[in-house]
Amino acid sequence: MEEKMLARIAAGELRHIAFIMDGNGRWAKARGLSRGEGHRKGAQVFEDIAEYCGNIGIRHVTVYAFSTENWKRPPAEIKALMRLFSHYLDTAAQRLAEKKLRVIFLGDRGVFSKSVRKRMEALEEKSAVYDRILNIAFNYGGRAEIVHACQAALAAGEEISEATLGAHLYTRLSPDPDLIVRTAGEMRLSNFLLWQAAYAEFYATDTLWPDMTPADVDKACAAYFSRKRNFGALPGE
Ligand code: IPE
Ligand code: IPE
Ligand code: MG
Repeated sequence: MEEKMLARIAAGELRHIAFIMDGNGRWAKARGLSRGEGHRKGAQVFEDIAEYCGNIGIRHVTVYAFSTENWKRPPAEIKALMRLFSHYLDTAAQRLAEKKLRVIFLGDRGVFSKSVRKRMEALEEKSAVYDRILNIAFNYGGRAEIVHACQAALAAGEEISEATLGAHLYTRLSPDPDLIVRTAGEMRLSNFLLWQAAYAEFYATDTLWPDMTPADVDKACAAYFSRKRNFGALPGE
């Protein structure tokens, strides 16, 4: 990555990048592999990309790994995805420590077994000493998150406001994403970070997630830095 962009990241102009990791199935199909194989490759790539984002100074990375709607997929694919998730929970602690990343899982954990939930918590606790955040959205839906945040605010006896609701979102430890990147050519959010995406810049690439490289991240960042963000105001100089 160019020095100029690194300097702008260091200055806090790009604090949070979020990825909609799409295209694992198409990647596998093109190679005559099973969809599960595509997810396996996608899971490896996500660790490399998260590490790269940390290396270039981005302090918050979010990845969309499994949506509340992905339960509609065939049982065999869901099984493959859950197995990959379980494997990640069992093996990620050391890699997170090496990369100095703090993992936080976004989404409804209630559907998972007690053992899975415990391992999710253990990984979060163990990595909580690091300040670069890796949010992994798993069984995550933007609408469900907003409903959950409203319920939590009401249960705490709070009035509903942007501030109280924001404080109960799964992403409460991260600022809103500055940049949302979607791979595999689709032009939609698919229920991802609906609240937080209000003023995010959007970048789509035809690259399938398993083909994603640091050079593609650089391209997305270059596009981001070429944009003018107004947040509703008139463009300043
Ligand atoms: C993204 O890849 C991963 C998940 C949604 C779990 P897909 O599985 O959606 O891949 P395509 O879109 O079928 O290529
Ligand atoms: C979005 O991808 C969800 C994740 C990347 C986890 P999908 O492949 O599920 O999205 P749609 O169904 O094409 O909108
Ligand atoms: Mg898809």
